[in-house]
Amino acid sequence: MEWNCVERYQVQGGLPLVGTVKVGGAKNSILPVLAAALLNESREEIRLQQVPALGDVRAMLSILRCLGARVDQEGEDLLLQTADVDCDHVPDALMREMRSSIFLMGPLLGRLGRVRISYPGGCAIGLRPINLHLEGLQQLGAVIEEKGGCIEARGRLRGGEVTLAYPSVGATENLMLAAVCARGSTVINNAACEPEIADLQNFLNMLGARVSGAGSPVIRIRGVRGLHGGSYRVFPDRIVAGTFLLAAVLTRGCVTVEEVIPEHFASLTKLLEEAGAEVERGAAAVTVRAAEPLRALSRVKTGPYPGFPTDLQPQLLAALTLADGSSTIIEHVFKGRFHHVPELRKMGARIELSGHRAVIRGVRRLSGAAVQATDLRAGAALTLAALAADGESTIAGIGHIERGYDGLPEALARLGGRISREKSVPEEVLSS
Ligand code: EPZ
Repeated sequence: MEWNCVERYQVQGGLPLVGTVKVGGAKNSILPVLAAALLNESREEIRLQQVPALGDVRAMLSILRCLGARVDQEGEDLLLQTADVDCDHVPDALMREMRSSIFLMGPLLGRLGRVRISYPGGCAIGLRPINLHLEGLQQLGAVIEEKGGCIEARGRLRGGEVTLAYPSVGATENLMLAAVCARGSTVINNAACEPEIADLQNFLNMLGARVSGAGSPVIRIRGVRGLHGGSYRVFPDRIVAGTFLLAAVLTRGCVTVEEVIPEHFASLTKLLEEAGAEVERGAAAVTVRAAEPLRALSRVKTGPYPGFPTDLQPQLLAALTLADGSSTIIEHVFKGRFHHVPELRKMGARIELSGHRAVIRGVRRLSGAAVQATDLRAGAALTLAALAADGESTIAGIGHIERGYDGLPEALARLGGRISREKSVPEEVLSS
């Protein structure tokens, strides 16, 4: 009988991480790029180079296949044939698995003039509303009905001017994708400026679209028909790069991340220098060395790019649990993105929460514990803390982590960490 095994990371902490790691393609670029591929109605193939093996990528590929795309793999490259895409409905089960499928609305509306998806549920980092997506699509001519947790949108999209109430990354991407094949031109004001937006613009223009302004708050799109295929490689993942640099800090080691774009995570490296770590920047590599505990950081606030990224907040918070003094982090992007805190407390961290604010009083040592990952970046933070803690830790819920990290335990082990992936049959099953 096949029991559904529980997979955990088993970690023996206390060793410094030392060495070099190559960073792969960005999850938060590849997901909107995969959705954008649906706009290619030609028989020309799209080749995406060196795509990381991530849970979220697999989920998005399942959705593309459901919609009628053909997906082949050649080594680390993905080959997409999207000429026969004709389905306008994303199955509920896949919607639940992949929150980011909300930005399939734009390309399916742009290409087919209709789309049906179930309302993406919330997750551990907050409600994840989609009002900015829906309002923006309506301003481009979509007629949207929400009933019983399902969203139906129809209409031949036309260009227009949309001003986002908040520079939402997903809403910016969704509207870019909706506008590419709309009749006329579109301007998106107060657009997100994250590097992933520029990555998406570069990909779309490679397909023959006419997009400009990404990286600034004003993005312009001229509607075109007849996009074609081509080959593209997304930017390196700035959050994965930052995660490895913070692993060096927590374990008082020395790690170099290679094949990166240093300015994409400059907010982190500036903070680490402020806190006393040594940072060396090359053209496509960054090294962080932290032989001593960090100095506490009096006030770190997460925010839209180029501010400090919310996706590195849990990992930085973990590093500050061992800093010299008391630090404050204010999580301004997502309500409730502190689920890593109760788990870090099990390791001996001293953290006080009030609303958006976390006050972290540095301690000298953390102790290994059995902890639970609740979401992707919280799980990464717990993994780093376990590598720094005295003794043994187990981390459950690693499926969350492997949605966004390709081979994390193997990469950390190559840097000298004692970490492995273990399968176990749950206690309750053994005793039944
Ligand atoms: C993207 O999520 C990323 N995901 C997130 O990364 C990242 O944390 C986030 O941008 C912020 O940088 C992908 O790119 C796949 P938002 P997204 O729309 O698009 C509110 C990770 O760990 N909002 O910029 O969902 C929202 O509630 C993930 O890799 C509305 O109110 O983020 C949040 O408070 C986690 N209405 C804020 O805006 C909307 O219609 C930022 O959300 C949309 C968003």
